[in-house]
Amino acid sequence: MCGIVAYLGNKPAKHLLLEGLKRLEYRGYDSAGIAIMNGKLNVARAVGRVAMLEEKLEGLEGFDGSLGLCHTRWATHGSVTEHNAHPHRDDKHGIALVHNGIIENYAALKTYLQDKGHTFTSQTDTEVLAMLIGELYEGDLEKAVQAALREVTGAYAICVVCEKEPGVLVVARKGSPLMVGIGSNNDYVVASDGAAIISHTSRVFMLDDYNVVKLTREGFRTTDVNNVAVNPKVQQLEIDLEQIELGGYPHFMLKEIFEQPKALRACMSGRMDLREGRVVLGGLSTFGKEITRAKRVILTAQGTALHAAMIGRYLLEDLAKLPSQTEYASEFRYRNPTIEEGTVVVAVSQSGETADTLAALHEAKERGALALGVINVVGSTISRDTDAGVYLRVGPEIGVASTKAFTGQVAVLTLISLFMARRRIMGAGDCGDLLREMERIPEKIERILEQAPIIKKVTEKYVDRENWLFLGRGYNYPTALEGALKLKEISYIHAEGMPAAEMKHGPIALINEGMPAVFIANRGRQYEKVMSNIQEVRSRGGHVIAVATEGDEQIKKHVQDVLYIPDVPEPLSPLLTVIPLQLMAYYAAVARGHDVDKPRNLAKSVTVE
Ligand code: M6R
Repeated sequence: MCGIVAYLGNKPAKHLLLEGLKRLEYRGYDSAGIAIMNGKLNVARAVGRVAMLEEKLEGLEGFDGSLGLCHTRWATHGSVTEHNAHPHRDDKHGIALVHNGIIENYAALKTYLQDKGHTFTSQTDTEVLAMLIGELYEGDLEKAVQAALREVTGAYAICVVCEKEPGVLVVARKGSPLMVGIGSNNDYVVASDGAAIISHTSRVFMLDDYNVVKLTREGFRTTDVNNVAVNPKVQQLEIDLEQIELGGYPHFMLKEIFEQPKALRACMSGRMDLREGRVVLGGLSTFGKEITRAKRVILTAQGTALHAAMIGRYLLEDLAKLPSQTEYASEFRYRNPTIEEGTVVVAVSQSGETADTLAALHEAKERGALALGVINVVGSTISRDTDAGVYLRVGPEIGVASTKAFTGQVAVLTLISLFMARRRIMGAGDCGDLLREMERIPEKIERILEQAPIIKKVTEKYVDRENWLFLGRGYNYPTALEGALKLKEISYIHAEGMPAAEMKHGPIALINEGMPAVFIANRGRQYEKVMSNIQEVRSRGGHVIAVATEGDEQIKKHVQDVLYIPDVPEPLSPLLTVIPLQLMAYYAAVARGHDVDKPRNLAKSVTVE
């Protein structure tokens, strides 16, 4: 949510900053802005995408310096206007600041600053922080930032410059991600995420909460907000440039859908011992005993990750016979939850930065739970705040609509369930059988992807309909929720996902002539029941699109369209049934002319509660 990039070095900053900002655009794209030091601070801001800012800069002089910062915004406080776009400035010392996060006590601080005579030009919380730093400035930017941050509550990743100190960049973080890339020439790129850094350097360090870093061309020093020195851990950034480029695809979402076979192979690699019929998860080994003895598992997440978590719950109960529940992180945190001894909490998140999930994790830890993470982004806040965990290893996900992270999360949760099952009740034979089936999942996904043209054609038949239903049972009830979410978020079509049996308890009233109802009707324990639910929709005029198992010719008699998936054991079926649903959402959005990778009102990583 909001992307920030800053540069200090010897190269011209403008191009470098804009390139970095484009790579972070998935984090927000309401408006963008840049400030470059060139004798004085030059600032430009524009409503819209980074391209609008770039266009504006073409007609402007003075943006030639080699110290600067920039921002792409996802609005929280204040509407989408140029005045509310970052960077924000103070009114005394030529201070400019970009910010990702929310200053929660901004109203009280604003009143205090107004009483001191400061005049505000925006409605943002960020301008309040810029003014506060200005108010506290006594000739040392680092000290003023530390002093200001001692006064604020909330979340922030900030980069700050000051005209009076033209060779200094101060950056800090609490709650929102920020990392410093160390170049080979005493130059630094600071950004919300490694995608904006990797083309310059792979040597980075992540800021921890309350870290403040002062960077100059002579070096850097890291402290906390009380000026106590901190030793950051420099590490290698493991991102491949190819992974964050379109590579010939029209959209990242489509690229990521097609990457799933490769991503899942990487996710499973080295984690399945087929001979011994067991799962090897190095990330859990330190807590093997506690995990084996767990009495209850609470899986917590938001959005797509929550749907994966729901599948995780079915897996844990079905395979490991372990009482499990799923919780919206945002609800769990404030519900005064009961955590008994032996509770394991699993936070599921692609970004590892989702504020709701992070807060739920902290709550659970405080109440004594063992905290595990199922995270994609290595080194992200949640991955660092959990006791142990398993990374997805599916590579960077750039499309706002999550696809390969979802299948990665389901695959990892399947591995964790088998890991627990094997230590509790499952024999090597049964576990080995399921692992062998898992190994074949990537190849089966490839077979579904070959049907993309058919899926496109079916989708286009219904793309003008404004209301859709997605229905499934058991393991594929969460998949139905995910199908509906995908369609909503990128094609802006109203869609509801629900258990197929729930429909007759009310939602069936919605069905009218021609309403598309997508049924997940693969072979499994509830196949017959799903078929009955299909009849209920058909007899009321609904048009049924079924996701069915190859070889099921009978189903064609009962539905308008069928999309086939290869046969697969039921616990693994969501890994296949979701693929046609992802493609349907993609083709619907394209047919409706939407910007698939940057859907309206959304941002990839939701770092505010
Ligand atoms: O980074 P996370 O997995 O924690 O993100 C959670 C949700 O914000 C995310 O899955 C969101 O629902 C996606 N836009 C869905 O495609």
